[in-house]
Amino acid sequence: MEASSCKSLIFLLFAVVLFISQTQPLVTAAKDSGGQANTNFVRKKCSITTYPSLCLNKLMPYASSVKANSTKLCKEALNVATKGARDASIIVSNLKKQKGISKYEAAAIKDCIEDVKDAMYEFKRAIEAMGHLGDGDKEFQLSNAKTYASAAITNADSCTDGVSDNRKVNPKVKDAINRSMAVIIRLGSNALSLINHVYEY
Ligand SMILES: *[C@@H]1O[C@H](CO)[C@@H](O)[C@H](O)[C@H]1NC(C)=O
Ligand SMILES: *[C@@H]1O[C@H](CO)[C@@H](O)[C@H](O)[C@H]1NC(C)=O
Repeated sequence: MEASSCKSLIFLLFAVVLFISQTQPLVTAAKDSGGQANTNFVRKKCSITTYPSLCLNKLMPYASSVKANSTKLCKEALNVATKGARDASIIVSNLKKQKGISKYEAAAIKDCIEDVKDAMYEFKRAIEAMGHLGDGDKEFQLSNAKTYASAAITNADSCTDGVSDNRKVNPKVKDAINRSMAVIIRLGSNALSLINHVYEY
């Protein structure tokens, strides 16, 4: 191969690489503008919740499926809260199986597990109510969803109260239960904020 044609081949290759590397960001930028609108929506919605950074952490992964649908975002928030309650029930159940747990503690923990199960049930009822917003009795369903989400928070509160008022429960057990219930309460409060503001933005 002649030196000059080799040079022009290299130049051609270089030009192709340059062309590809310049068009690629254009394609990604076009994709991002839709993605950015979705993430901005979640950001804006989360800013009105009680625990905004928790909201962002938990709900940003759903930005692309939620798009700008407030009802969908509420449902995802309630799903996340339900899952949080399920995780908490596992943690609390494991506490009960720990060595050195007294029968008084076991009884208090058992009551708490019932509260957490009730919370999960209430979150699920709230998801169902949010699924019926299009049925014509919008205000009724929305107020049901608020009632159920609040009830779930109250259930987690009653576990905390029941355990912290019990002098026979070890402070370490109290602390572990408190922390588990706090997760449910925060996720539930965030879901409730989103439901309360479902018609904004
Ligand atoms: C939002 O999503 C729900 C399903 O959760 C759907 O029924 C409703 O039509 C959607 N709203 C809009 C405006 O797309
Ligand atoms: C658990 O939380 C309650 C209030 O939410 C508080 O009164 C109690 O002191 C806490 N207990 C522990 C061990 O942190």
